[in-house]
Amino acid sequence: MRKHEAMSTPSAAPWWRDAVVYQVYPRSFQDADGDGEGDLRGIAARLDHVRDLGADAVWLSPVYPSPMADGGYDVAGFEDIDPRYGTLDDADTLIAAAHERGLKLLMDVVPCHTSIEHPWFRAHPERYVWADGDEPPNNWIASFGGRAWSRDAQTGRWYLHSFYPEQPDLDWRRADVRAAIGGSLRFWLDRGVDGFRLDAIDRLLKDPELRDDPPATAPPPLPEHAEVATLRGVHSRNAPDIGMALHALRVAAGDALLVGEVYLPAAQLPPYLEHVDCAFAFELLHAPWEAAAYRAAIVAALDPAGAAGRVAWVLSNHDFPRLPDRVGARNTRAAALLALTLPGAAFVYQGDEIGMADGPGAAGRPHDRAGRDRHRHPMRWDDDAPHGGFTDATASPWLPAIAVDGGGVAQQARDPDSILMLYRELIAARRDLGAGLTFLEDAAEGVLAFRRGDRHVVAINMSDEPRPAPRAGAIVRATHAGRHPAGKPVVAELQSGEGVLAEI
Ligand code: NOJ
Repeated sequence: MRKHEAMSTPSAAPWWRDAVVYQVYPRSFQDADGDGEGDLRGIAARLDHVRDLGADAVWLSPVYPSPMADGGYDVAGFEDIDPRYGTLDDADTLIAAAHERGLKLLMDVVPCHTSIEHPWFRAHPERYVWADGDEPPNNWIASFGGRAWSRDAQTGRWYLHSFYPEQPDLDWRRADVRAAIGGSLRFWLDRGVDGFRLDAIDRLLKDPELRDDPPATAPPPLPEHAEVATLRGVHSRNAPDIGMALHALRVAAGDALLVGEVYLPAAQLPPYLEHVDCAFAFELLHAPWEAAAYRAAIVAALDPAGAAGRVAWVLSNHDFPRLPDRVGARNTRAAALLALTLPGAAFVYQGDEIGMADGPGAAGRPHDRAGRDRHRHPMRWDDDAPHGGFTDATASPWLPAIAVDGGGVAQQARDPDSILMLYRELIAARRDLGAGLTFLEDAAEGVLAFRRGDRHVVAINMSDEPRPAPRAGAIVRATHAGRHPAGKPVVAELQSGEGVLAEI
């Protein structure tokens, strides 16, 4: 038996330790002004849904001024709100509305790059990473494919972009860059936000000598664009002195929550966790739906010599196929059971709580060249309202409103066996789970089963066949409440895609 203890005693735990954080993708959450795109007033109007879910916090994907080459992750001003989303006053109102409901609010900080339309690119070109010459200075590949260097038409010089060419990388070895981004964190803290999700921080610092990345000799540890996967990104990211950049962010943030988006396996997280509070566990997000693979990803994240459980569990976000498309519609409830019963913070992407699947994406030209529109369709509030309640009847939503099996929030709130009710009841039940996680070694093959604290067992049949359930007392909440009602003993057999949280 391997035992993974929690990091600290409950009394010493900060608010976010076992928090549920709800990710709002602002463009697709709720449109209040009838232009077909979501906005801050719309988010404020829907906060009761987040509160009723039982979440502790909201993470807002970027709402700053942006030409939207990368859905807002191309920021043209760190201390303002894009007019499509509203105003700074609307942001203040939203922060207050969240706090009135007992919800914390996290902003998304994008420190690695700006939009090429950010005034700094012309007024302060020295803040970016440049090279001269007829050819790009090295072989680095951008995250979405293609080379990571583009020529600036005005100066003829090469600038580095770890993502789209519209997103030039800042030079984090410069004190003025660290001070400027740190200042923007303080700007939002002064307005009352409670923390930040830090975008792409494994890309903040690269090799100062700009050496070539060597050819790959094995598949990358996490899925990458095919061109990226031809190289081992040892120089284009994750530089050994990353702590210098992260220290500046920590000093600016004080003790506000910092969640790192570090696209690396858990074993490589420790240098980041010296400065940020937790980091997303991407191995779990990308694990194939198999008990052994999930167990390995959980063990890696809880490993006391590595991430030591300081991970934020996440099974879905705006960058990757939604749960029904990735794990299969039959398994989405089980995925929720797992994500919400692991020790540590859990992130829920808007729509997961009603089982939203991917949609067709944009009807004409895609908004996102990397193909991620399909994961970003408008939230489904009410099947009986125009556009599912996302926007009014006269507007044309920026991405089509799509139906959800089981209905929108309004329909699922009336159905005791809906996915929405499963999320609400699991989030309520997770407050009672004890510390630590111990795998049950005698679970049937294909069943992922673990104990939480002294009293609770979680068992999920991840195989394609019925499997014996562990002997585990009374059901607290099962994925399929109709077949496994709360309070009854755990049945002898779990069907494929079924799981139980039980009390022993
Ligand atoms: C990660 C964000 O989640 C993604 O949407 C974005 O494209 C990249 N970082 C670049 O900012």
